Amino acid sequence: MTTPALPPDAPVGIFDSGVGGFSVLRHIQAQLPHEHLLYFADTSFAPYGDKPEHVVIERVLAVAGYLAAHRVKALVVACNTATVAAVRVLRARYPEMPIVGVEPGLKPAAAATRTGIVGVLATERTLAGEKFLLLRDQIHQAHGARFLLQPCVGLADQIEFGAGDTQALEAMLQRYIAPLLAQGADTLVLGCTHYPLVQASIEAVIGQHTAAEVMLIDTGDAVARQLARLLGAAGLLRAGDGQPARLDGFTSASAAALTAAFSTLLGQDPPVHEVEASLSRPGSATPHI
Ligand code: DGL
Repeated sequence: MTTPALPPDAPVGIFDSGVGGFSVLRHIQAQLPHEHLLYFADTSFAPYGDKPEHVVIERVLAVAGYLAAHRVKALVVACNTATVAAVRVLRARYPEMPIVGVEPGLKPAAAATRTGIVGVLATERTLAGEKFLLLRDQIHQAHGARFLLQPCVGLADQIEFGAGDTQALEAMLQRYIAPLLAQGADTLVLGCTHYPLVQASIEAVIGQHTAAEVMLIDTGDAVARQLARLLGAAGLLRAGDGQPARLDGFTSASAAALTAAFSTLLGQDPPVHEVEASLSRPGSATPHI
């Protein structure tokens, strides 16, 4: 058990390169309705998935530093790319802080597949990450499932910035999903937190290729459960006081865009704060790394 460094009333910090982390946030809100939450969309730096690992690590440390300066009691890395690249470095930097990452759900996929063939949709950076490849090898050895890795170049961007262009989205989904189904995959891992946000479009594309059931694996629910476990173990769960918990949005790009995304994707209207892309710490003009 860690020594609580901050009171249970402190917020939980959640971040992603953009709105992808909403697919995790909605589970956290459902499971932990009393927690104050601070959601950071690092949109000025998106996408993370096509950047070299050391660049992602440096940026993730900067975002985490920004959130730590806002006195978050725990961190949720609501981004597979950032988790695979940087969660180890983050844990070393903040050894006292509960930190939950998101990784592609290879284990649940291996348990679900009947054909033994699993397609993994994720960013290039996630699929090239040493941590991910180790996990893939471990699960393959333990369960015998075969994983077809499909880097989805541009897909997170299309979801983030595509302004509801359903034709462009569908064309991209066709390109990435059809070959996996043709090779016998009956289970698809949504290995980027942006992808569950377009689950209906993914299901529609699958339906054009097969009448058989194809399982979609998203780990947002499991991440929220892990956060609840870690907060509980650290004595950091916030008791409800009858008041609704706070949610604050932060973005390194446009507040109007994040406000619109909160409304469209989650039906929520939290206060949204714009942060300089250099991620100066609150109350300081010095960029922090
Ligand atoms: N949402 C992020 C993930 O889960 C990726 C998006 C990006 O490339 O920035 O991997």
